[in-house]
Amino acid sequence: MAEEKIRILFVCLGNICRSPTVEGVFRARAERAGWGALFEVDSAGTAAYHVGEPPDRRSQQHAQARGYNLSALRARQVAPIDFERFDYVLTMDRRNLREMEGIQRFARNPKATLALLLDYHPERQGQEVPDPYYGTDDGFETVLDLAESASDELLKVLLKKQGLFGCGC
Ligand code: 4NP
Repeated sequence: MAEEKIRILFVCLGNICRSPTVEGVFRARAERAGWGALFEVDSAGTAAYHVGEPPDRRSQQHAQARGYNLSALRARQVAPIDFERFDYVLTMDRRNLREMEGIQRFARNPKATLALLLDYHPERQGQEVPDPYYGTDDGFETVLDLAESASDELLKVLLKKQGLFGCGC
């Protein structure tokens, strides 16, 4: 087991729908695969609208139906220091990515790799996780589908990088 944790921050606009869903999904899937202790995961929003709030009720309900409990999460806004604290900053869409590029310039010693989350999806590199906030229930299911596939691929890629994938774990 590597001594240093791999730290991942998932970013969206409000931090109440997409990024907390991915945070909960990635954490649960890493734990279920036996690698929970290797990762520290968090999520944040580029906007401050919902700071301190739990995830959107619809996000919580759809996630719970697949066995992911998001109730303990609370929204926070991103900060330049996130680029020093995290190894990966993964955004849901291009607007978030552009915002984070701007914020990265204010970090003293940025070390994080900044990318779109779906660059780690097996078939959707370069694509975005659609914002479900103003949409219907389907949108929340799409977020979960994308979160699950991207989390499994991200886990595989990061374990491989550590020389840990393929060891029968
Ligand atoms: P999220 O969704 O970025 O996935 O958390 C949104 C949440 C809130 C708002 C927009 C998107 N809002 O405008 O309040």
